[in-house]
Amino acid sequence: MQNNSTRPIAIFDSGIGGLSVLREALKILPFEDYMYFADTEHVPYGAKNKEEVKLLVLKAGEFLNAQKIKMLVVACNTATSSAITELRNKYDFPVIGMEPAVKPAVSNNKNKRVLVLATELTLKEQKFRELVDKVDNEKIVDLLPLPELVEFAERFVFDDQTIIPALREKLSPLILESYGTVVLGCTHFPFYKNTLQKIFPHGTEIIDGNLGTVTHMKSILEKEHLRNPGTSKGTIDFFHSGKPITDKLILDRYLKLAEA
Ligand code: DGL
Repeated sequence: MQNNSTRPIAIFDSGIGGLSVLREALKILPFEDYMYFADTEHVPYGAKNKEEVKLLVLKAGEFLNAQKIKMLVVACNTATSSAITELRNKYDFPVIGMEPAVKPAVSNNKNKRVLVLATELTLKEQKFRELVDKVDNEKIVDLLPLPELVEFAERFVFDDQTIIPALREKLSPLILESYGTVVLGCTHFPFYKNTLQKIFPHGTEIIDGNLGTVTHMKSILEKEHLRNPGTSKGTIDFFHSGKPITDKLILDRYLKLAEA
């Protein structure tokens, strides 16, 4: 069988959210080459319907397949819930998806409630509903769509002065003290983890699925003998909806988020 281990790994998101996954991947799998695909022409996915998102994800999948990749990481909870099965059926390379870390949050609930922050589409998708039904026996899970954070991230707005008041307003109907765990169910949100930590009471744990996803990537690469044998830092190519990003300013911004 042909050995594809030197091929790149594709990381895909509707926008810059997947850079939070790439960031983790660069720490754990630094010798791999990466292609980062942001579907910025169509972001946000979270406000669209499942069929629209499915078509967009499959289109991105076709582009990435043509680049001869060895693994596709759908670094987007919304895209995963809409089209992961179709992608897996279509391609021979491993397709890694993401879903909000509700299960570990519920099992380690510390007798407090769990708040899941994600996009509107992720939260209303059947896949997610089934996950919550399965684990939330004591009805401790609350859900809150947070499209505002996707918008801020896409505009590269990260400063506390802007974000804290907006988040306080959005979270004002909730009793923040009642939450022991906040699940970041959208890959755009880990960029705001420190900011969220300032809003929720001390001791509230804020978790995301990025480390788990990259650990899973690593174990699949090993199992399939797909680890890149190289020992020098790999390359990263960035794309906006199928077009290589050449603008130096944008590349710098992306690299800054990915290498933070
Ligand atoms: N980053 C995406 C996620 O993890 C979605 C953001 C969006 O396009 O609405 O769900």
